[in-house]
Amino acid sequence: MIQTLSVSQQIIDLEDKYGAHNYHPLSVVLSKGEGVHVWDVDGKRYFDFLSAYSAVNQGHCHPRIINALVRQAQTLSLTSRAFYNDKLGICEEFMAKLFGFDKVLMMNSGAEANETALKLARKWGYMKKGIPTNEAVIVAVQRNFHGRTLAIVSASTDPDSTKGFGPFMPGYQVIPYDDVVALEEALKNKNVCAFWVEPIQGEAGVFVPQDGYLKKARELCTKYNVLLMLDEIQTGLGRTGKLLAGDYEGIKGDVLILGKALSGGTMPVSAVLANDEVMLCIKPGEHGSTFGGNPIAAVVAVESLKVLIEEGLIENAFKLGEVFRERMNLLKQKSEHINLVRGKGLLNAVVINETKSGKTAWDLCVTLMQKGLLAKPTHGDKIRFAPPLVITEQQLDECCKIIESTVLEF
Ligand SMILES: Cc1ncc(COP(=O)(O)O)c(C=O)c1O
Repeated sequence: MIQTLSVSQQIIDLEDKYGAHNYHPLSVVLSKGEGVHVWDVDGKRYFDFLSAYSAVNQGHCHPRIINALVRQAQTLSLTSRAFYNDKLGICEEFMAKLFGFDKVLMMNSGAEANETALKLARKWGYMKKGIPTNEAVIVAVQRNFHGRTLAIVSASTDPDSTKGFGPFMPGYQVIPYDDVVALEEALKNKNVCAFWVEPIQGEAGVFVPQDGYLKKARELCTKYNVLLMLDEIQTGLGRTGKLLAGDYEGIKGDVLILGKALSGGTMPVSAVLANDEVMLCIKPGEHGSTFGGNPIAAVVAVESLKVLIEEGLIENAFKLGEVFRERMNLLKQKSEHINLVRGKGLLNAVVINETKSGKTAWDLCVTLMQKGLLAKPTHGDKIRFAPPLVITEQQLDECCKIIESTVLEF
């Protein structure tokens, strides 16, 4: 008997055959998105509770962002930085003023923005702090995730990121996260130019540090003349219920690293922000990117930031984050399948007790998918729940009901 494959299975097989196997996706093939929803090729609708790893904070295909993108794409898409374009300066001014820095350096992916920050830190270390040539040290933390390039994974403690990819770039000291004693010890080394950290560790499974950690880190970096580099690529731009997660402790980094939702999920746009004393250490020809700061990215970034602010998405993330964690904590009381609920704003994780039921976080995500909610496990037993920030209270209630019934039926 000849069996015909479903459209989605044909597409999955195609990717499997011709694409590299560097991801392990859930078996759903999406073809449309709008707001908090995505649709598969068969027309089934889902709530998106991953938001492309927090890149789609403004919701799928936000009309204001798409309009800005299309208009600019029809006018001027790319000049390279060999020439000026009439949109980049406007974007740089908008971002510098919004985040309170002198200057902005636009890149594309989050990894590139982190690479930029690493280079800036070393340059500043040699030019301003007087670190002997080639002896600069950057302090990173365990369980960090800053991207996939070799310089970045050289500081990783995750075997998936490192195994088989050596030799690694020297010049890092890796200390425990959320440990101010270890931090102070590390910063006493006069060759340290920067402390590089995520305010909440997103990819690792939404690890939220103790209150006061970032504030203390800020004080220590100032005391030892070390740059505080905050990677807010996942935590920033409203995701945690503030414009930046650092705002919870009223702190500002010396280097701010942004990406993902800077384009509302429409294209790769990232940026590094710093004051002149740091940013001007990099001179013409020493760093750059053909696409970084292109006019489409510039208009898209401004519109994406305006949408976040003008549509109250940051406040919505704060408010609905509280609702979500309250519901999940109530569920935890009713079900032994949940070990822990943690997060801030709409960046949350539920840690599944896999030994209790013999079922895994992956199994739970498959059932959630069948019921119309897309989420993905991270590092085994953790499920990250991070819907677009445009989600309404009513939609969140519907989603909580899906999660509750799935967990209780386990
Ligand atoms: C905190 C953080 N930094 C950097 C990155 C890398 O960004 P990209 O995948 O755009 O290179 C990520 C991606 O998940 C991230 O969460």
